[in-house]
Amino acid sequence: MAEVTSPADEFTKRVNRREFLNFAWLASLGFITLNIAGATYLFSMPRFKEGEFGGVVTVGTVAEMPEAEASPLNFPKVKFWLSHTSQGVMALYKVCTHLGCLYNWREQEHKFVCPCHGSQFELNGNYILGPAPRSLDRFAIQIVDQGSGEVIAQSENGEPLPLPENANAIVRVDTGKRIKGAPHA
Ligand code: FES
Repeated sequence: MAEVTSPADEFTKRVNRREFLNFAWLASLGFITLNIAGATYLFSMPRFKEGEFGGVVTVGTVAEMPEAEASPLNFPKVKFWLSHTSQGVMALYKVCTHLGCLYNWREQEHKFVCPCHGSQFELNGNYILGPAPRSLDRFAIQIVDQGSGEVIAQSENGEPLPLPENANAIVRVDTGKRIKGAPHA
């Protein structure tokens, strides 16, 4: 009598145990490689889009910056004040270093004042008085040539950055790089 074999039996005959293990091992290896490649790709992408808080924000050209020691510019959507002191421009994080309230600019007194517990800060973010433990936090800032895209000057530590002669150069703030203000005595 003829032997009856199912398709599964045929497959079993063709693929012995060793071949099956080799195949499973290769499939696992491929799966892991794909996962690593996917994770590497995701990590290499910027987490924030340009222009949104957490990413790099273009604030305007050198010519559009306020005069030195004039009132700061408010950028509420990206959470900073742009100050131009006699030492240069700087971007101050809008959140008070005491308990996180949003402080305001007081035009008449020419300083920042927090409405919650009264901490005060100079135009450059330096602590004046109140319960805040340190000066205002600031963001890294850079100036880029509009034509070439080359970085002309930058302040990675949040210190004031003097404006260059090039009035068309672009001022950019990296809101992903926050530098803590100095604690006061
Ligand atoms: Fe600003 Fe307390 S949160 S002084």
